[in-house]
Order: sequence, then structure tokens, then C-alpha cells
Amino acid sequence: MSLFKQPLVWNQELIKRYDLAGPRYTSYPTAPQFSEQFTETALLNAITRSNTAHKPLSLYFHIPFCDTLCYYCGCNKIVTNNKSRALPYVQRMIQELALYADLFDHSRIVKQLHWGGGTPTFISDDEMSLLMHATRKLFQLSDDGSEEFSVEIHPGRVSIETMQHLRNLGFNRVSMGVQDFDEQVQKAVNRFNSLEEITRLMSALRAQEFQSISMDLIYGLPFQTLKTMGDTLNKVVELSPDRLSIFNYAHMPHIFKSQSLIHDRDLPSANEKLDLLHFAIEKLQAEGYVYIGMDHFAKPTDELVIAQQQGKLQRNFQGYSTHGDCDLLAVGASSISMIDNVYVQNAKELNLYQQKLDVGLLPFAKGFTLNVEDELRRHVINQLICHCRLEFNDVFTQFGVVAHRHFSRELDTLIPMVEDSLISITPLGIEVHNAGRMLIRRICMVFDEYLNNNQQIRYSKII
Ligand SMILES: C[S@@+](CC[C@H](N)C(=O)[O-])C[C@H]1O[C@@H](n2cnc3c(N)ncnc32)[C@H](O)[C@@H]1O
Ligand code: SF4
Repeated sequence: MSLFKQPLVWNQELIKRYDLAGPRYTSYPTAPQFSEQFTETALLNAITRSNTAHKPLSLYFHIPFCDTLCYYCGCNKIVTNNKSRALPYVQRMIQELALYADLFDHSRIVKQLHWGGGTPTFISDDEMSLLMHATRKLFQLSDDGSEEFSVEIHPGRVSIETMQHLRNLGFNRVSMGVQDFDEQVQKAVNRFNSLEEITRLMSALRAQEFQSISMDLIYGLPFQTLKTMGDTLNKVVELSPDRLSIFNYAHMPHIFKSQSLIHDRDLPSANEKLDLLHFAIEKLQAEGYVYIGMDHFAKPTDELVIAQQQGKLQRNFQGYSTHGDCDLLAVGASSISMIDNVYVQNAKELNLYQQKLDVGLLPFAKGFTLNVEDELRRHVINQLICHCRLEFNDVFTQFGVVAHRHFSRELDTLIPMVEDSLISITPLGIEVHNAGRMLIRRICMVFDEYLNNNQQIRYSKII
């Protein structure tokens, strides 16, 4: 049986011993390395190279507005009831997209498109049409049935009519934040969605022929216990989403102000959190979900599982992805693009983002150009985090590097993990064992050249 379909081996003592703060590796190098010195010339050159390589495209739109505040939220969002803020923002995203449309080869096909947030359904149905029609005019969206066009929704704040509108606009995937069904937990975090509401929504989405439905849950929220988690998971399993994410609640009120509305005394302890996670993984595996890795689960027939079996899984800013073959162009405040060998991040503050566009500038604020060593390490981290293995032969074929010599320091650092039977290192490569899966971030960190003690403070606990 493949490693990913085996029941997870849970070794609490080792998990605690190796538990350190660390990045989630949705990019390598990670965002703290992005620099304001990054130039427009570097970006334009990357786009030219990407046009030559002529990979398909993935488009991301960041819509930051929310009309309610979920206290736990660590996303880049603006909480407001003022709906008139939406149109000028949508117009700026279209302006940004038009600037890029002049630079990207128009024959490149957009295979993947995602609206994230915030709450993308904050904008009106008309504004959605405006944005999608402009996107279709400026870029060539795939329409052969293989396209993946997805939207994030807050199930308590969206109507069935709006979902039909999104479906008509071409969206065929939905990602919804459920977080937790328990009433006391919902009240403590000010995030409400009832089982009845979501059940109704799910049957409507299926009738509307959305092809894939994904749900987000969070563990480590106030008042969560094994009992409440069990009840939430029973309901979720009954609803039967195609994919599931279970995020670790990162309580960092010094960074995310609204989290100070959550009282420390109501939070589960570190031990209780581990028990919640262990319980959730066992339960979902027992219910037939495949544990892809990190926070992600999917049904055995899902494309993510198939990509993992075929060794084609990738990690990007949205987590695990089947579209590693695409360049990612992201528009909207704070969004991050990945084009050829550069990452580029837009201004996070709305005013700054809008001001740049108003004078005709690309609204980026930071970026990073990967050198060959960075690309090599990105490959290593991607292989480990997606497939739990690294083949030295493959490193040699792709980068001309003899891995056991090039990474001799890293392989030495990994020896304690070999001794703890978390991984094995052979002349052929590195294999992460079942018991090492929970510590994959810790294993990847060994290959991260940019980590230092200062940065580690910025990351949430690994588990
Ligand atoms: C980018 S957010 C936006 C999704 C959408 N606005 C919603 O609330 O449904 C995606 C997911 O991140 C998770 N999330 C947000 N803040 C978090 C935090 N502080 N710790 C862990 N997960 C968090 C939630 O599960 C949320 O659904
Ligand atoms: S969790 Fe989603 S809906 Fe809630 S504040 Fe954050 S981005 Fe907005």
C-alpha cells in the first residue's frame, strides 16, 4: 500500500521533541526573503522568459473585503460593511490585469483560476460579471472541460443564486470555510454557519454541477474538545467534500489584533491540540480520505491524490496543487505571483496598491529572483513535502548536482532523524517514513538556506 494510504503512525514523544516553529513552504524561499529592492526590469525579464517557455497560466485574484470579522483570522483582509468599496477595487484589478495582458503572450492558456480572500462574494453579482468578462477578454481561458476555476466562499454569507451566477461565469470548484460546527466554538470566534445552511448549500452546489468542493476546518480553537471535534467531523464526513483542509489555529495576537478577542484561557493546551490533530487524522483516514500531507486530505479519486501517485504534485500559495506546470499570475492587494524564476508580491495596503495603479505602475512592492541554488533547494523541498521522498538521480538529471556531496552538511544534520527512524538515507535518496510524515516541515527546514533564529519567531508552531 502506498505510504499516503497507510494509517498514519503517530509517535507523540518524537512529535513533541521535533516540534519547532517553521515555515509552511508554500514558496521557497519563503515570503520574509522577498525584497523591496526587486526591480521592474527583473519582473519584465521573467515574463519574457516565461513567454519563451510558453507554459500555461494560473490566475489568482485577491479580494480582501469581509463583512464580518472572524476573531481567529490570520488572512489579509479588510472588514467593512461599505459595499461601495468593491467596485473601485475590482476596476483596479482589471487595470492591473490589462497591464499584464500587454506583457504576456496572448496565446498562453489559463488552465487554473482562483478568487481568494477575504470573502470574494463580498462583491456584487454584477461586479463578478465585470471582473470575469474582463478576464476572458484579456486572457485566453481554457474551456475544454479540464479548466479548474475556483472560488473561496463563507457558507454563512452566500446565496444559492450567487453560486449559480458564479457557475454561469465558469467557476466549477468551491472552497468553503466551515471551521467548526460547535455553537460554543462558533460564538467564541464570531464565525457562524449552521449544518442546515451548509447542507442546503452543498446540495445546491451539486445540483449546479460544481465538480469539486473543498472544506476548511481549524483545530486549536477555543472550547474545542475531542467530543466537539468528533461531532464536527461526523457532520463534515456526512457532507462528503472532495477535499478537506484542517488548519492549525495560529494564535499570534501580537500580529493579528482581532485574535486578542480570543482568551488564552479558553484555548486547548498544546497537548490537547496534538490530541485533536491525531484524532482528526485517524478519523478522516478511517472514513476513506487520503492524508496528502501537512493540513490536506482528499478522496482517493481526487486529482490531488492521483497527482501525488504520479509524482506530479506541487506546492504553491494555495497549498497542494496539481498545476505545477503553470506560471502563476496573481492580481490584487498582497497577492504573490510566481513567474519563471521570480516571486513578486503586490503592495499589501489597499491605498498603496490603488495609488500605484492610478499612475499606471505595476503595483508590486517586493520580489525575489531565485538563483540556481534556490531552484535546486525549492525542488528538494517540493519533492519532500509533496512526495515524502527525494531521488538523488533526479537531482542530478535536473540540476547536474551530485546530491550526497552537495548536501553532505544537510545529510549529516538529518542523522538524528535517521536514528529515530523518521527517515532513511540511502545512496539512491531520502525516504520519509510513515512516522516522519508529521515532521515534514522540520525535515524541509534542513534544506532552507535562509532560516535563522530571528525569522523563526515569525512562524507559527509546526504542529
Ligand atoms: C484565506 S482564508 C479565507 C477563506 C474565506 N474568507 C473564509 O473565511 O471562508 C482560508 C482559510 O484559512 C484558515 N485560517 C484563517 N485564519 C487562520 C488562522 N489564524 N489559523 C489557522 N487557519 C486560519 C481558515 O480555515 C480559512 O477558511
Ligand atoms: S476567515 Fe475569511 S471571512 Fe473570516 S475574517 Fe478571515 S478572510 Fe474574512
